[in-house]
Amino acid sequence: MTAEKSQHTMWDGRFETKMAGSMERLSFSLRVDVELIEEDIDGSVAHTAGLLEAGVLTADERAKIVEGLEGIRADFRAGKDLFDPDSDEDVHMAVERVLTDRLGPLGKKLHTGRSRNDQVSTDFKLYMRRKAEKLLGQVRGLQKALFKLADENQARLMPGYTHLQQAQPVQFSHYMLSFLFALERDAGRLRDFLARHRQMPLGSGAIAGSAFPYHRDLVARELGFPEISDNSIDAVSHRDAALEFLSDLAILGTTLSRYAEDFVLWSTCEFGFLKLSDAFSSGSSMMPQKKNPDSMELIRGKSGRLTGNLVAMATLVKGAPMTYSRDLQEDKEPVFDSARTASVMLDAMREAMETAVWDFSRMREAMLPELLATDLADLLVQRGIPFRDAHRIVGSIVGKAARRRIPFTSLPLDEWEGVPEPNEIKRQLTFENSVARRDLPGGTGPNAVKAQLETAKRLLAEA
Ligand code: ARG
Repeated sequence: MTAEKSQHTMWDGRFETKMAGSMERLSFSLRVDVELIEEDIDGSVAHTAGLLEAGVLTADERAKIVEGLEGIRADFRAGKDLFDPDSDEDVHMAVERVLTDRLGPLGKKLHTGRSRNDQVSTDFKLYMRRKAEKLLGQVRGLQKALFKLADENQARLMPGYTHLQQAQPVQFSHYMLSFLFALERDAGRLRDFLARHRQMPLGSGAIAGSAFPYHRDLVARELGFPEISDNSIDAVSHRDAALEFLSDLAILGTTLSRYAEDFVLWSTCEFGFLKLSDAFSSGSSMMPQKKNPDSMELIRGKSGRLTGNLVAMATLVKGAPMTYSRDLQEDKEPVFDSARTASVMLDAMREAMETAVWDFSRMREAMLPELLATDLADLLVQRGIPFRDAHRIVGSIVGKAARRRIPFTSLPLDEWEGVPEPNEIKRQLTFENSVARRDLPGGTGPNAVKAQLETAKRLLAEA
């Protein structure tokens, strides 16, 4: 840093020597927090409304500052090289520095009654609120793609798995709707986040509040915050909003990762239930035959980053002394990374679902007769046999067949020991019957799945 550049430092009045190079590399955050530039400018524009009200700025001065800030925004959007990462410490000081370079002494009035502590808290919250809204729209988009799959492919059956072993027949639509409903809770968490973190910190100053008669409600309204913070110490210190945002995204990531894992498995030649579009696959640099489900593997992998970012934030804030300490500057990167990562994951999952080809005959062929073992036990119960006894009777039939390496349905009926009227009972053992019998709300039966589709349709009609 040159001596001339160091004059830009805002605390020159207090300091005798300039900052060491290594300290600059430790301290400067512009490369990261430039991501907040829109929120920084919005925050400053709203702040000038408060300063006008407080009599710090005249209407003319305010207009000039707003024009200056909007000019910086336009130049930034146009890709102009405005800032110097080697001398502008962070985006907040960078914007103010350029404004003052352009407007002269008037620019120096902008920071009246404001600290970077309440400024950063405000910008950061605004950023997360905007991202939460955008992510909610993307979750909706994915849910719509899943709804379409479920709606258009009713009555298609597939093996349902527990322990990754075939368990019971289910409708493909039922499986896809499970994804949609899980996402609805992920969306609900983001809505909770928006409902809870609705207070604007600006006007809290560095810790104690602002000494200027600044109309905080007016500034909050300008920024789209429904309320102002109740306590300035609280407002500048806490990062629970970031923890909650990251936690919501980490949980969303786990949802996506589990379906991604199933889709990786389903696209193997052993399963063959699913062909991802080439657009969501990639090849091997060595093996010419390979078509790999990389999109799903990456979604699975990136969900780990979302959890990592949550852990990073919790580690950062744990035990940090009240109120602001510089450690808190490190709160931005995990949030930016998670917002970006979750957004890409949601887009890729939606588009991969929209373009995938599902092989329903392979699903059907993969269904083993053992999927019906529970149904056999249930049919025995219907004839008055206690379930525990029925379970043992069917278990020994299935075991006998397994030792002969045949499906239990191929075991001669005279060996169906303990089964009354085995002929009649066996006739009832079909995959369709199995599904149809589970028609209780929430189940995989035809009416149950239709009701789920109706519920889903109502959810999707909401904003
Ligand atoms: N870049 C800092 C951050 O994001 C700005 C706040 C600095 N505040 C301070 N008191 N030094 O945390």
